[in-house]
Amino acid sequence: MGILKAQGVVYKPVDEVDLGPESDEFYIRANVKAPRMAGLFVKVFTWFLESSIFGGILLYFLKRNNLIHKLVSFAQLQESPLFVPLHPYQGIIENEVKCLEPDMSPPEKVQQAVDCLQSLEDIPKSTQLSFERWTILDYARAYTSGQTTPKMVADRFIASVHESSNRHLQMSFFINYNAEDILKQATESTARHAQGAPISILDGVPVAIKDEIDCMPYPTTGGTKWLHKVRQCKNDACCVSRLRACGAIIVGKTNMHELGAGISGINPHYGAARNPYNRSKITGGSSSGSAAVVAAGLCPVALGVDGGGSVRLPAALCGVVGLKPTFARVPHNGVLPINYTVGMVGILAATVEDALITYAAISGGLPSDHSGITMPKIGLPLLKSANYMSSDFKMAIYRKWFNDCSDDIRECCSNAVAKLSDKYGWQSVEVTIPDIEVMRLAHYLTIGSECSDSIASYLENINRAELGWDVRVGLSVYSSFHSHEYLNAQRIRKRQLQFHEKIFSVADVIVTPTVGVTAYTIEDDALKTGELDYINGAALVRYQIAGNFLGLPAVTVPVGYDRSGLPIGLQFIGKPWSESLLIHIASALQALCKSGYKKPEVFFDMLAC
Ligand SMILES: *[C@@H]1O[C@H](CO)[C@@H](O)[C@H](O)[C@H]1NC(C)=O
Ligand SMILES: *[C@@H]1O[C@H](CO)[C@@H](O)[C@H](O)[C@H]1NC(C)=O
Repeated sequence: MGILKAQGVVYKPVDEVDLGPESDEFYIRANVKAPRMAGLFVKVFTWFLESSIFGGILLYFLKRNNLIHKLVSFAQLQESPLFVPLHPYQGIIENEVKCLEPDMSPPEKVQQAVDCLQSLEDIPKSTQLSFERWTILDYARAYTSGQTTPKMVADRFIASVHESSNRHLQMSFFINYNAEDILKQATESTARHAQGAPISILDGVPVAIKDEIDCMPYPTTGGTKWLHKVRQCKNDACCVSRLRACGAIIVGKTNMHELGAGISGINPHYGAARNPYNRSKITGGSSSGSAAVVAAGLCPVALGVDGGGSVRLPAALCGVVGLKPTFARVPHNGVLPINYTVGMVGILAATVEDALITYAAISGGLPSDHSGITMPKIGLPLLKSANYMSSDFKMAIYRKWFNDCSDDIRECCSNAVAKLSDKYGWQSVEVTIPDIEVMRLAHYLTIGSECSDSIASYLENINRAELGWDVRVGLSVYSSFHSHEYLNAQRIRKRQLQFHEKIFSVADVIVTPTVGVTAYTIEDDALKTGELDYINGAALVRYQIAGNFLGLPAVTVPVGYDRSGLPIGLQFIGKPWSESLLIHIASALQALCKSGYKKPEVFFDMLAC
């Protein structure tokens, strides 16, 4: 941070900034100046915002009061802009890793992942745990032993989704699911198992897909009532076709925050996705349904898209694992291009092992990809060898930032870090990461500009009344950004990347709570209009931004619950292309925490005998 000059901050050159624990860099707490709005209030506000007379003035004050002008728009920086966070491959030296060859098929890759785990027979289903979700290996074991069949699971799945949407529960997990299509896939998979010839360990395993990713035979709504009318879905997205090639049963399109333009998961068109740990709470978003179906036991894995924490954040609020790979690790073909330089397909899973198997199935560039960079090979961690216990990982902690969360989260996450040090001897390294809040604003400006640019052509042809109110407010703000603001945001991206590179020269990962607050209550007035809650919003995305703005991989693991029983997650942010290390660390943490895992209030048992 530098001295305030005229309206904008003058930032010091990166090399002059002290990143040590004693640095005098000032930690800015998010100081959001915008009241929570829902119901009639949001309608009136939208009307003013969209009016040509008041709109401009209102936007000016919104941006000024929320420090966008001072910290981003009029700031002075020396860096050149960085537009796309595509990282050159730097050979990471990793032990205990199995490398995938680029020409392997998805089932071959999945087999490699399975080989990294303990063999099926070696893992006794633990009886001492109070609660465990069924994993991909559990499904495979149940099918192989004949305890159940994919067809029986599909029947149970359909009945459970039906039950979850009844008047009493109203979970709003899915935007679309087609019983006939599910049963057809399940029957085929059952036949393969009957012949003793499943395609892979994923054969017959139910997997749900966020409704932002193309997936046949469904339209891609992006959580809207109109997008699918102006943009047809003609094929599976690349990540979906890879899962299908492994025999997974694609069970439908999960609910999401409209256009991913918010993070509560309250969707006025398809219902507010509800948190399985407490139905009156949000799931978080935008991959709201994907997190909720995994938490509720309907499937061990779901895909989401993470443009501003949209996978990790709902995963943390719903008590499941969330993995967001490095930018460009999973091809983006067939995913709505809402925010192309910050968004990435990500994985929501019951366990770290399930995330690993799914990661192996969907990642890897396309042969036709001419991005000009050499994609590093995909490394998978050998989770079965326990050697990581003795490795001396270093975890960077920026204490002021780490502590900027609710008391329950701070205590629970600090305990988790302390356990990692006690059990494995990993060290915490105290650091300073400057301008976290500046990065959040610059990312907001970037994702907003990209979103409004990519849907501009569609918006011309639709009636505004088809959009939710909160999204209309979002789009008005998004379209107010000017080119100089966008460019400055990209300079901040470059500057932040340099800071993070320096941090990664002294630590393997950065560790943070995943979110600043646990799931908050869904108020009745938000159900029809959606809601604007930028204060809770800022607390939810507080730790997410580097993963998107800088394209870094990150993972969240459930570590406990607050005093109302709502889940808490701990996040690790890694160097570019270091998924293997992240999964290793996540698995070590999971091993320490899983004895405390609790069963959610709403839970469906797909494999019960
Ligand atoms: C769910 O949250 C509501 C509102 O905070 C609370 O009154 C209720 O007791 C919670 N339910 C459970 C099962 O904890
Ligand atoms: C865009 O960002 C939003 C907000 O994080 C996210 O929900 C959505 O999935 C992203 N879309 C893409 C294509 O990355």
